[in-house]
Amino acid sequence: MCGLVGYIGKNNAKDILLSSLELLEYRGYDSSGIAIRINDSIVTYKDIGRVSHLRSIIKNNIYSNIGIGHTRWATHGSVNRINAHPHSSFDGRFTLVHNGVIENYLELKMMYLSDVDFISSTDSEVIVNLLSYFIRKCSIEEALRKLISVLKGSFALVIFDRDNMDRLYVIKNKTPLLIGKGNDEIMVSSDALAFINSIDSYICLDDMEYAILCKNSVKVFDSRGNIILHNEIKNDTNKEEISKGDYPYYMLKEIEEIPSCIERIRNKYIYEGCITIDESLLNEIRDSDIIYVASCGTSYYASLYFKYIMEKEYKKKVDVLIASEYIYSFEAIGRNPFIIVVSQSGETQDVISFVSKCKEKGLRTLCITNTRYSTLERECDYSLSLEARKEVAVASTKAYVNEVVLFYFLEKAIMNDINRVVVDIDELLISVKDVISRNKEIDNIVKQIVSKDHLYYVGRELGYYGSLEAALKLKEISYIHAEGLSSSELKHGSIALIDSSFPTIALIDNMIDELLVRSNLQEIKSRDGMTFVITYSPFYKDGDSLSLKLVDSSLRIIPLVVVSQYIAYKCALLKGNDIDKPRNLAKSVTVL
Ligand code: AGP
Repeated sequence: MCGLVGYIGKNNAKDILLSSLELLEYRGYDSSGIAIRINDSIVTYKDIGRVSHLRSIIKNNIYSNIGIGHTRWATHGSVNRINAHPHSSFDGRFTLVHNGVIENYLELKMMYLSDVDFISSTDSEVIVNLLSYFIRKCSIEEALRKLISVLKGSFALVIFDRDNMDRLYVIKNKTPLLIGKGNDEIMVSSDALAFINSIDSYICLDDMEYAILCKNSVKVFDSRGNIILHNEIKNDTNKEEISKGDYPYYMLKEIEEIPSCIERIRNKYIYEGCITIDESLLNEIRDSDIIYVASCGTSYYASLYFKYIMEKEYKKKVDVLIASEYIYSFEAIGRNPFIIVVSQSGETQDVISFVSKCKEKGLRTLCITNTRYSTLERECDYSLSLEARKEVAVASTKAYVNEVVLFYFLEKAIMNDINRVVVDIDELLISVKDVISRNKEIDNIVKQIVSKDHLYYVGRELGYYGSLEAALKLKEISYIHAEGLSSSELKHGSIALIDSSFPTIALIDNMIDELLVRSNLQEIKSRDGMTFVITYSPFYKDGDSLSLKLVDSSLRIIPLVVVSQYIAYKCALLKGNDIDKPRNLAKSVTVL
C-alpha cells in the first residue's frame, strides 16, 4: 500500500517522478504528491486524486534534477490534501514520503515532540519531525540511526534534506525499498516496476538498513552504521508486460491472458513428461505430518483447492489459515509441520508477519509467488514462481488461476503421479479458451444481476471453493454484496434472505454434487429466488445459463471461476466503476 519513489540524476525529476507514480498507482490511489528541488528550495505539490490530476496542477516548464514522490492509500488520517505526502518537518529542513505504519507514533509524539504543531493527522509527519528533533544534537547519520532505533512498525522512507539538496536518505523496515542504478542516475522505489524506463539493475534493502544516495553513489548501512553490500539484481521488467495494449482495462487483458499464463507455467514445471519441482522440497513436504498453508484474499481461496486435493487424493492433513488471524496465535500441531505461504505480490504484510512467526519457531517454509525477489521469496526456504507475469488490476485473475495450477503440479509431484498431467492441462486450456471466446453469452446473466444489491454464489466441494472466490471478485469491483456458500448451508440460515430481488448463481462441477445443488436451488425457487446455473456440458439441463467444455480433473474449478471473473468485470463495466482501481482498495496490502 502506497507507492513511493525518489530520483537523482540527469533527467527532469518531475517527469520521472510523475511517470513512476503512474506505474505505482496500483499500490494506492487516493492522493499523490511530489517534492522537488527548484533553485535553492524544496517545493511540494500534492492533492487528493490520481496522479493524472497531480500532473495537471504542476507547471510543465519546471525543471529539477532531484525529488521524491508518493501515491497514498490512507491509513492514518482521512483522504485530504493535508494528509497527502510528502510531509515536511516543523523547521522545513526535512521532507519525506513514507510507506507503512508507525505503531508507536503517538508515544513518540508525546515523548519528543510535545511542542510541535502538527499539520496533518498522519503518523508520517511524526517521523519527519523526529528527524529534525534528533539532528539538533548529532550528525545526519546518527540522527538516521536514532530514528531507526525508536520507530516501531513498518516503514520505507525517502527523505529530502534542505541543507544538502544533492542527496536523498532512505530507510527500510518491513516494507519493500529498492534502489536502482542507471547511467548517471539513481532511483528509489517500492517496486521495480518504477524502474522500467531507465534503470538497469537494483538492490533490495533489508530491514533496519538505511542508505545515502547521491547522483553517482549509493552507500548502504545497517542500523549500527556498518557498510553493507548487496547483490545487484538485473531489471528485467518488460514494457509490454505492463502495457494495456488495446484493452480498455488491465483486468480484461489479464483474464484473456489466462491461457498463455497456463502455458507458461506448464512449460516451466513440465519437462519431458516430468514435473520439475525440487526433490528436496518434495521430500520435506512428504516427510511432514501436517501442512499449513497461509494466505489472504484470493490467494486464500486458491489455497483451499490445495487442501481439497491433498486430503482427497494424498490423504494428508492440510490446514489453510487466513494469515492475519495467526500472526500472534499460531501454534503448529504435529511433530513435523511444513508451512506453505501463497501471495501473488509476495509483499502482503499479513503473510510476511506470519512467516516471521514461523521462522522464530524454526519451521520450514515454501513461498508460492508471482513476484521474484519479493520479501516473501527472500524470507522463505523454498520458492515456486507462478509465471503469470505482472498482474496490475487490483482484482486478481490470472494469478489465481496459476496458483491453482501450481498447487495441482505440486500435489502431482508429491504423489509422483504424472500420468494425466499433460492431458489435464490440455483439457483445461481448451475449456478456458472456449470461455473466453464465448464470453458474450455471459451478458445474459449480467443483465439480470447488475442492478441487484445482493447475490449468493453456491456450489459444493470445488464448486463451493470456486463460489468463495467468485463472490469476492463480484464484491471487489462491482460493489454488489456477494457471499459464497456451500449450497447445503443455505437451509441453515442464509436462505432467510432469499426473495425475488436476491439472485443465486450455482457453480456445478461434477455429477455427484449436481443433484444436491439442483435440489438446493429448488428450495430457492420455491421462495421466488432467481437462480442461474453455470456447469459443464455433461451436467447441463434446459434452463441452465452456461454450458462449459468438460474438464475431467480437479482443475475444473478454473473455468467456473473464469466465468465469474467475467461476470464481475461486466457488472462493474455496466456500472461505470473504475475496474482496475476499485474504491478503498490497493493491489499490494503492505500494512497489517
Ligand atoms: C484479489 O482480487 C484481491 N485484490 C485480494 O484479495 C488479494 O488476493 C489479497 O490481498 C492477497 O494478495 P497477495 O496474493 O498479493 O498476497
